[in-house]
Amino acid sequence: MMEVVIAPAEELARLAADAVEELLRAKPTAALGLATGSSPLAVYDELARRHAEEGLSFAQAQGFMLDEYVGLPAEHPQRYRNVISAEIADRVAWPADQVHGPDGLAEDLPAACAAFEQAIADAGGVDLQLLGIGTDGHIGFNEPGSSLASRTRIKSLTDQTRQDNARFFDDDVDQVPPHCLTQGLGTISDARHLVLLATGRHKAEAVHQLVEGPVSALWPASVMQLHPHATVLLDEGAASRL
Ligand code: GLP
Repeated sequence: MMEVVIAPAEELARLAADAVEELLRAKPTAALGLATGSSPLAVYDELARRHAEEGLSFAQAQGFMLDEYVGLPAEHPQRYRNVISAEIADRVAWPADQVHGPDGLAEDLPAACAAFEQAIADAGGVDLQLLGIGTDGHIGFNEPGSSLASRTRIKSLTDQTRQDNARFFDDDVDQVPPHCLTQGLGTISDARHLVLLATGRHKAEAVHQLVEGPVSALWPASVMQLHPHATVLLDEGAASRL
């Protein structure tokens, strides 16, 4: 079942943080799926606030990143492992060895993907997966054409995604890595609750296809229509084509 909520952006961040908090209070060892990009930033701010002011604890939780660039140096600020540390993990005192991601610096990338899938399985699966959506309808880095059953693997980024993400790389598209590792659509769909946030009119077409389009690999996020528990949090701009 897919529920769609349309509300101002601050309210969306609170709703997503509520879902995370409810889960952690009921199950302190929960596995949380973590997204990068601008969309979850306000959620991470709210979780950090609740950690500091209300004692919300991540001490026993596991974190699983959605995706990672291939080949960015270990200390590169846009390496998603570093982004996740700076935006959420360090701010909530999350033990580093409990936050897992596919290793974009591994010599054997397929083995790194398999190891990441195994880590998710060992944790008993992801309880709640936070998601953003690309303007071409990708979730994680599952670009158009991704198999709906795909698992964590190497992908090439589309030109559009590299252009969208150039803003994090001095506005220079050539600095955006051409390859990534990403949880597959099948991996993402195995999470027990999907929570997607989208804001702004530039997301309206992707959101329209996600909610109202046919389920199709051409708009990868549409796979969420098949999920038993998906929450789609939208501001007015992102919802403007519904
Ligand atoms: C990147 C990430 C996705 C994210 C998307 C949207 O490509 N790999 O996980 O959902 O961007 O980003 P933003 O939230 O900044 O619009």
